[in-house]
Formats: sequence, C-alpha cells, structure tokens
Amino acid sequence: TEFVTVSELASMMDVQPTQVISACMSLGIFVSINQRLDAETIAIVADEFGFEVEFVSAEVQEAIPVQEDKDEDLLPRAPIVTVMGHVDHGKTSLLDRIRNADVIAGEAGGITQHIGAYSVTLENGKRITFLDTPGHEAFTAMRARGAQVTDIAIIIVAADDDVMPQTKEAIAHAQAAGVPMIFAINKVDKPTANPDKIREQLSQMNILVEEWGGKYQCQEISAKQGLYIDELLEKVLLEAELLDLKANPNKNAVGTVIESSLDKGRGYVTNMLVEAGTLKIGDIILAGRYAGRVRAMHNEHGKNLKEAGPAVPVSILGINGAPSAGDKFYIMDDEREARSIATKREQLYREQGLRTQKHITLDEIGRRL
Ligand code: GTP
Ligand code: MG
Repeated sequence: TEFVTVSELASMMDVQPTQVISACMSLGIFVSINQRLDAETIAIVADEFGFEVEFVSAEVQEAIPVQEDKDEDLLPRAPIVTVMGHVDHGKTSLLDRIRNADVIAGEAGGITQHIGAYSVTLENGKRITFLDTPGHEAFTAMRARGAQVTDIAIIIVAADDDVMPQTKEAIAHAQAAGVPMIFAINKVDKPTANPDKIREQLSQMNILVEEWGGKYQCQEISAKQGLYIDELLEKVLLEAELLDLKANPNKNAVGTVIESSLDKGRGYVTNMLVEAGTLKIGDIILAGRYAGRVRAMHNEHGKNLKEAGPAVPVSILGINGAPSAGDKFYIMDDEREARSIATKREQLYREQGLRTQKHITLDEIGRRL
C-alpha cells in the first residue's frame, strides 16, 4: 500500500519537498515530488525529521450503514469537473464564462452565490457540475483526505506561455487520481499565442492530444472573449458519456464537504456536493466530526431547495460545527447515533492533537492504491 506523496509528506512535517527527496535519496530511493511513498519509507523518512508516524486504519471508523445499489437503481448523473492550471493561465476566467453559459441561471433570477461548486445546464438540456474552489487546493485537500469527487479534470494552459510547473503538477494530480484530462489551450486570441508549442510540450510529457493522434481531447479557447467554450463543454460531455456516470437517487444521501464556515447570523454554513441519494430538509446528517439536521438548503442561485439529488452542489445550515473539505457526509436514521459517532470522532481528534504535536496521522481510508 502506498500513502501520501512526497510533497504531502513534506507539508505535513513542514519541510521542503526537496528535503524529503534527499532523505529518500540517502536511503537509496529515488523519488519525484508527486510520487507516493510506501509505509516503510514514510516511517523511516519521518523519523529522520523527528516525527513518529501513526497509521490510522479503518478500524477506528464506525459502521455507517450505506445502502448498496442494485443495477436497476442506478440512473445517469451529471459529471463533476475540476479546472486546474498554472497561475494566470485563465482558470477563473474560464469558470466565469462557463457559469454564464447556464441557461437556468437567467430564469432563476436569484443572485449568484459562491458555494464552492455550481451546475450549468446547457442548451441541449445536459448538466455539468464544476468545482470552483481554487482547483489545486480543493483537489489536493480532498485527495489528502481520500476523497475523490472529480470525474474529469480540465487542464488549462495559456497558449502565450508554456507548460509550467503548476501545469505539470495538475497533470500529475489527475494522473495519480486516475481522472481523465481534457486540455484547454487558452488565450488563443492573443497574437503571441502558439497552441502548437503547447501540444509539443505536452507530447514531451507523453501526453499526445487527439489532433496529434493521441487519446487526450484538447480544445483551443479564449476564456476572455468567450470563444469555443461550447466546444470545450461538448468535449466534457463526450468524456462523461464514456465514463457512463451513474448514481442511485432513491436512497439516503451521501456526499462530500467542499468547504464550511461560521456565519455570524446563520451559524455554520456547509457547502457540499451530493454524490448519491437525495438530500432533504430535515435529514439527520453526520459530516466529519459534526452532526445535525438539515435546517435549510439553497443552491448557487440562492434558491431554497427542499431536496437535492446526485451531483447537485448545495449550501446547508444545521450542522453543529465546520467539517473539513473532503469530509464525507452521511444521512442517518437515528439522530442519537449520528451525534454519538460525531462525539467519538471529536474525542479521537482531540486525543491525537494532544498526544503530540510532532506526530503525523496518515489516514488509510480511501487510499486503496
Ligand atoms: P490565478 O487564480 O491567479 O491562478 O489565475 P487564473 O488562472 O484564475 O487566471 P485568470 O482567469 O484570473 O486570468 C489571468 C489573466 O489572464 C487575466 O488578466 C485575464 O483577463 C487574462 N486572460 C484569461 N483568459 C484570457 C484569454 O482567453 N485571452 C486573453 N487575452 N487574456 C486572458
Ligand atoms: Mg483564479
């Protein structure tokens, strides 16, 4: 089993990735920054830096009953997409453009709110859900917790620049997670744009785009001028079709926390993504170390919802704390049980925090690699 990557381990210990790489090297192990390490290597390297490693296994987890799905219960669901790329290559501009392509937004009439993700319904009636928390951080924070919500990654590269370190990192993240990539070559409106140079640089990384006979879809766009955005979204839908994404909407909801915060007037606000089942007002919810009841729920247009199905992002009120990005949430039948599990988790969390500061916890859950 392999656990965290070199860079994740480095950040847990608050040292530079290069220090971890050289520690590995002195053991005769040659690793790259995004490489995952096995338990033994982690233990030895951590020891070098004065850390003791504890591997938290599934045993500390409680049995949370999640209904199994039969084939006939599964219905198609919208894909969940993350945009990643180097600084200034156009992530925000692209996400804004896509948001404006939503045909439902206009008629909803509400004010657009940031809830960490949004869905767009295209003219053909198909829906795509985008995570709009800063791509990298969301992806790494969630991945570090074993959460995998992204179905497809759009890697955006500015055509007037190069494939940059963060581009490479984004590619490495997507590859490590086994998430298919679509390349968006941005800023093609610029006179200095050279999309072929980007394709060439990708090919040097063994990534051959379709135009060059490879398997990766690629689309030239201008996020600023709104050029070829529809074509890019078509490619996302095509990729989604190949993935044959399905979920059972007719059961208790399960999903992932995207972000949460404490609002002075409203209490804890939790933004999350339903992955399967249907979330309803009044549901008893367990999210990370917290629990509660869904008191109110709204979408990215500020519209109040009574329920939310698979791949729908929502913002809810009613959880008694702020769970972390990547925490799973479950709907449970028994409120006492939900609270007792939350309390147990909180205790465990405190004990671990108290026991020692020089102590890393590597959560094995969800890291079946
Ligand atoms: P960070 O969040 O800082 O990493 O940047 P980002 O990737 O979100 O890029 P952002 O969308 O903020 O764009 C960076 C700059 O590039 C802005 O000045 C944009 O106006 C500009 N830009 C983005 N897309 C295009 C494009 O298609 N053409 C041109 N000419 N400029 C663009
Ligand atoms: Mg941005």
